[in-house]
Amino acid sequence: MCGIIGYIGNSDATPVLIDGLKKLEYRGYDSSGVGVIDSTKDRIIVRKSSGKISNLENLIRTKPVGKSSIGISHTRWATHGAPTTVNAHPHLDGSGKIVIVHNGIIENYETLKTALKKQGHTFKSDTDTEIVSHLIEKYYKGNLRAAVGRAVRDLEGAFALGVISTHEPDKLIAARIGSPLIIGLGKKENFIASDVPAILDKTRKIIYLKDGEMAEITKDKVDVFNFAGKKVNAKVHTITFNIDAVKKQGYPHFMMKEMHEQADVIQKMIKARIGKTGIALDGIGLTQKQLSSFKKIIILACGTAYHAGMVGKYVIEKLAKIPVSVDAASEFRYRDPIVDRKTLVIAISQSGETADTLAGVREAKRRGARVITICNVVGSSIVRESDGVLYTHAGPEISVASTKAYTAQIAMLYLLAFKLAGPAKKEIKKLISEFKKVPALYKDILKNKAEIARVAKKNSHFGCFLFLGRNVNYPSALEGALKLKEISYIPAEGYAAGEMKHGPIALIDEYRAVVCVAVKSDVYEKMISNIQEIRARKGKIIAIATKGDKEIDKHVNYVIHVPKTSDLLTPLVVALPLQLFAYYVAVKLGCDVDQPRNLAKSVTVE
Ligand code: AGP
Repeated sequence: MCGIIGYIGNSDATPVLIDGLKKLEYRGYDSSGVGVIDSTKDRIIVRKSSGKISNLENLIRTKPVGKSSIGISHTRWATHGAPTTVNAHPHLDGSGKIVIVHNGIIENYETLKTALKKQGHTFKSDTDTEIVSHLIEKYYKGNLRAAVGRAVRDLEGAFALGVISTHEPDKLIAARIGSPLIIGLGKKENFIASDVPAILDKTRKIIYLKDGEMAEITKDKVDVFNFAGKKVNAKVHTITFNIDAVKKQGYPHFMMKEMHEQADVIQKMIKARIGKTGIALDGIGLTQKQLSSFKKIIILACGTAYHAGMVGKYVIEKLAKIPVSVDAASEFRYRDPIVDRKTLVIAISQSGETADTLAGVREAKRRGARVITICNVVGSSIVRESDGVLYTHAGPEISVASTKAYTAQIAMLYLLAFKLAGPAKKEIKKLISEFKKVPALYKDILKNKAEIARVAKKNSHFGCFLFLGRNVNYPSALEGALKLKEISYIPAEGYAAGEMKHGPIALIDEYRAVVCVAVKSDVYEKMISNIQEIRARKGKIIAIATKGDKEIDKHVNYVIHVPKTSDLLTPLVVALPLQLFAYYVAVKLGCDVDQPRNLAKSVTVE
């Protein structure tokens, strides 16, 4: 996934472009660049640099681009071609009169590149993107928008494009399929961007460009067309969340800020969705009767969202007695899944742009399933292709490591399970009243974060971690392992505790650390047995245990206590200490917590 910004207006373009890029750095940060049309309107100036955006800033300080009223910029997460300066965007055409930035992946770029080479085009980079600038050059016959519209019809795959040219120096062209692109409407200035936070301090008036749409933008006007050139009426949205929501607000990292926000996110969800008459899941697009008519549920997701889906399986099957299977979205579409009109598919995605999950949604719909999405980004691609949506409204999640989105996804799955099971039932009512206490439990845990930090620092030297959990906390173990590995780069494996004796126990010795989710539950005694097996082999044990449990102290090296809650709700509660543990280990190791190497916030390529 990459980040794109474009500007046209009365201000100097370069500072606007750099400032916007910095707010998109979470989308990828292998390399970055800007391209502007200079004040003579006859020259395109490009500056590119590998590494972080600060490298680009330093380059521009030493080699200024001069004042400009129009420009495009890009921060990259490499898909084709190493993260080098030559592969950084923007990319010029052969004439040097057209320059573009691109987010996505052109799946047929090799075929197109070969054909263009035969027509005399030469290329500088290994990227798929560069062929697009040459295609526009090939089709340019005096109308830039028409040339872009013709070029994109040759492309297969996903793209969000920003294009400027000295042929028509007062126009910024945008086009998209499969990758997000918004247009910001200002006063005597307009913007394009991959995501809202990039331009929220400039304007709150946004057009979400849809798949198959393009725009011709001047500083005074925005016209939207389909790729065939037919004008469309684009809806203008007003963004309500505030700019601070995307700033750190004094926290050392976005991840710490977002972990602290979880209590409020769940509280807002409780207030908005749990009423006297039951559970309000507006947007799902299904009546209670329709909901109960499904014979099975398939949950599709990737990464952390996949772990949330696994919690959903335990909860929905236990409460609503509907069979649930959970698929890693990247596997789902290739396994010839059994899906029909009686199947409810639930896609889970924070960004709503994950290519694998989007592809899974399309496959499920092709096979006749009803698809709803649990998502955190309004108007995102996956939402637009679903039959219904349950927005988590967790606010922008900037840190690459997902925290508040994860607990919000789990919380939404509990609400769905309550609704499917019938909220009026005594057992469900009791669970709902326990569920309402979760925000207070989070605040309780955060009061203890210094202890979690102490335990994390004491164990940050281990070269390998095993995370173990059982039953509804097996997914908690998987998620705890993912959090640790993705921000500290320490190999960490999540496992069902009962499976340890079938292999992983061979790993255990005094050089291994094992994090055990051992809260009071029906499987607590089984967890204690596993802990004793680890202890017998000198493994170092960190237990996540229920406050007041003195028994466990005898068996482990460290205990992180969490407040008591209903067994079924414990994944919500144990998520926070596991997140904090990973965070403090990564900080101790000096890792880049919010922007871990090789990762991007949303993976918009397969
Ligand atoms: C989680 O910390 C990771 N950032 C990653 O696994 C993420 O959950 C996954 O890529 C899915 O993203 P999505 O929720 O935006 O679809």
